[in-house]
Amino acid sequence: MRCKGHNKSALEEAAGVIRAGGLVAMPTETVYGLAADASNDMAVAKIFEAKGRPTFNPLIAHVSGLEMARTLVEFSPLAEKLCQAFWPGPLTLVLPRREDSALSLLATAGLDTAAIRAPSHPMAQALIEATGRPLAAPSANRSGSISPTTAAHVEDTLKDRVDLILDGGAASIGIESTIISVAEDQATLLRPGGIPRSEIEAISGVSLRMPDQDAAPSAPGMLASHYAPSACLRLNATAPTAREVFLAFGRHDESHPYTLNLSRKADTREAAANLFAMLREADALCAANTLSGLAAAAIPMDGLGEAINDRLMRAAAPRS
Ligand code: TXA
Ligand code: MG
Repeated sequence: MRCKGHNKSALEEAAGVIRAGGLVAMPTETVYGLAADASNDMAVAKIFEAKGRPTFNPLIAHVSGLEMARTLVEFSPLAEKLCQAFWPGPLTLVLPRREDSALSLLATAGLDTAAIRAPSHPMAQALIEATGRPLAAPSANRSGSISPTTAAHVEDTLKDRVDLILDGGAASIGIESTIISVAEDQATLLRPGGIPRSEIEAISGVSLRMPDQDAAPSAPGMLASHYAPSACLRLNATAPTAREVFLAFGRHDESHPYTLNLSRKADTREAAANLFAMLREADALCAANTLSGLAAAAIPMDGLGEAINDRLMRAAAPRS
């Protein structure tokens, strides 16, 4: 069932579903999340089942703010500074799990750390407030496919697998949160996302380390192929072939009939907000017109470009 808008009865119903151990698709400013009570093992298990997600991949716990977060994980002064600067918003911190943390061990996949974020979307905040519980929520899509930025996207793939969909409109940021792991005074960028690296470095005064590429993935979800459309995706294309859908960026000749422009004004924020919806649209165009695949123009690395390029590379990676 899908509930529109920020109305009290929809929220109360959603909170009831969460308390009863069910699944609610909730809007956040990044992408829609598939939420369950993060302290309830059975509820968390339902998330993995609905997503078809490998259970070794831990989930982000969504909290109302620093106060709730402190009951779940340990904060160093640097971690606290980052939260003060960027919460609520698209920053996820991976921090040591508290011994007495209420988080389900399944939600954190048995790790001694946990990923935490306070979303800024008013409906996500209201749902956390109404339940008084941390909400485990991965993106509300089947594992490996494109993240949803509207309630309709969620309905497309998870309709029968979720108890309630809260419709909070199109996600304003459109790309997942930036994930940073903090150990004392060291911070490592695990996933580029909704807040540009430069902004985090400028405000925190630390330079973000890059994860050790040779080690096992430090964010276990960072498998090479992810966010994948059904059609093949070619990167850094200067022009499409006649049988490709073109994902353009900036000023381009748009006479090609299958052109979608991520941002005509070459703004990486606008492109991030359009990315997943346009990947879906391109996929549908490809199927409807039996085209050969998708071609994406080069995207600069500044601002949210780093996160966009990360998602495009995974979408283009060989499928396992
Ligand atoms: O914007 C977002 O972050 C969205 C919205 C719904 O909040 N959520 C999201 O969740 O993107 P998900 O599950 O698709 O991605 C979470 C990532 C995964 O790659 C997971 O492996 C990583 O966070 N992660 C979770 N816990 C971790 C931990 N303890 N250590 C390292 N990585 C962790
Ligand atoms: Mg995801």
